Amino acid sequence: MARLVAGVGTSHVPAIGAAIDLGKTQESYWQPLFKGYEPARKWLADQKPDVVILVYNDHACAFSLEMIPTFALGCADEFAPADEGWGPRPVPVVKGHPELAWHIAQSVILDEFDLTIVNNMTVDHGLTVPLSLLFGQPREWPCQVIPLAVNVVQYPPPTGNRCYQFGKAIRRAVDSFDQDLKVMIFGTGGMSHQLQGPRAGLINRAFDTAFLDNLTADPDKLARMPHIDYVREAGSEGIELVMWLIMRGALDAKVREIYRFYHVPASNTAVGHIILENQA
Ligand code: DHB
Ligand code: FE
Repeated sequence: MARLVAGVGTSHVPAIGAAIDLGKTQESYWQPLFKGYEPARKWLADQKPDVVILVYNDHACAFSLEMIPTFALGCADEFAPADEGWGPRPVPVVKGHPELAWHIAQSVILDEFDLTIVNNMTVDHGLTVPLSLLFGQPREWPCQVIPLAVNVVQYPPPTGNRCYQFGKAIRRAVDSFDQDLKVMIFGTGGMSHQLQGPRAGLINRAFDTAFLDNLTADPDKLARMPHIDYVREAGSEGIELVMWLIMRGALDAKVREIYRFYHVPASNTAVGHIILENQA
């Protein structure tokens, strides 16, 4: 059977992708950030997951105001990097796992989570920057990736609790997939940041630290936090953090935190990263 072994949380700042693609990772501004991801890259290279379910948000590349799915699961064979305005990032095409993706779709929809099935989409920095941070610059991504796009761009996004419960449904789906696969789930976006308006540049280290603490130890409490607390405390784009609750919901109630990293500055965003392992 498929086994869901671990979850990873990470920010997705587009400037990180540009720093990698333009060979700037050793510049003084970026070096501490990339150094902070080194232990995670080592850990993943040892762990060798077969499939990663990558929870992220699209930033008006694959979707637009014409169509706004709350949860959209990529069931295709592959997903090309999106052109975000400066051409697509020079990263490998993302290979999916259609069989597991369709199984997840069937399982969660019959479990009463009505997601959108997507057979053709590009993937933007929300998905490719986490892959670059955690796998570096390989010629091919070392695992298959199932994209799960969540609307956190246009009000109303799903609640934290809906995301958390959806994560639990994804876990039931993975547990019931009849192939011997090592599966991980990434929750991406955040941490605190606001890109527009009078509060642009907002960072809240205390909020982010408490979020990481609760993600490990008390996710039920975190799942009850309303949208307004994310926006007030973590900024308008801090709402991206609800996606980390999908990742957490898919893990065991008790997890082992094996790595954490927090860094400011990276563009306008507080960068957070955590690795949580199921103990069984
Ligand atoms: C930045 C952060 C984001 O999450 C995003 O989608 C775009 C830009 C930033 O910090 O620059
Ligand atoms: Fe974003």
